[in-house]
Amino acid sequence: MKFFLDTAMIDEIKQAKAWGFLDGVTTNPSLAAKTGRPFKTVAQEILKTAAPLPVSLEVVATDVEGMLEQARELYSWGKNVVAKIPMTEAGMQALNILKKEEIPVNVTLVFSANQALLAAKAGATYVSPFIGRLDDVGEEGMRLIEDAVRIYKNYGFSTQVLVASIRHPMHIVEACRIGADVATMPFSVLRQLFKHPLTDAGLKKFLADWEKVPGNPFEKVPR
Ligand code: E4P
Repeated sequence: MKFFLDTAMIDEIKQAKAWGFLDGVTTNPSLAAKTGRPFKTVAQEILKTAAPLPVSLEVVATDVEGMLEQARELYSWGKNVVAKIPMTEAGMQALNILKKEEIPVNVTLVFSANQALLAAKAGATYVSPFIGRLDDVGEEGMRLIEDAVRIYKNYGFSTQVLVASIRHPMHIVEACRIGADVATMPFSVLRQLFKHPLTDAGLKKFLADWEKVPGNPFEKVPR
């Protein structure tokens, strides 16, 4: 299971990398807006910080020519760029061309098994089913991950299932049980993965008991 960070915040990317848990980064226009900084500046910092790991940067054009132009521009910023293209008719047409130019594509805003199938048939490197947003409208997002993983296995598609719109740690566990390839998560969820109250309580007790141990080999002046 690869861990991607769903963020445009450089400090978060640096911290995830320092922990050794960073396999890539995904961004979107909403995350870029939160930075309040010019997109090209932020994107290039992300690319540099994450290199050589893949970074998904999203096109904002909705027509084929516009998507192609933007995807090529984004890809010119770094060889670790993955062009994020929405699941639309124009998006799939653009993907068909970008594939020939060897520009990797992450198909975003995927909400059904048929959309996941189309993305794979079109030759996407990643498909991003948004499970949290499906949960939000009363559908079971994780069922879509099961379907996509099963369909790709049945037909030998190489497109990687990138679980997106992750809201909490159990989404990660479920995605791992199903065998999804990648999970992209907010930094807050990555931090939550470390947490267990028994770890905190256990550490507190060990440290308290350690005070009762005679002699401390780690102190310069042993007690
Ligand atoms: C990932 O590529 C998406 O941008 C992201 O996971 C969307 O998450 P959200 O539904 O929390 O906005």
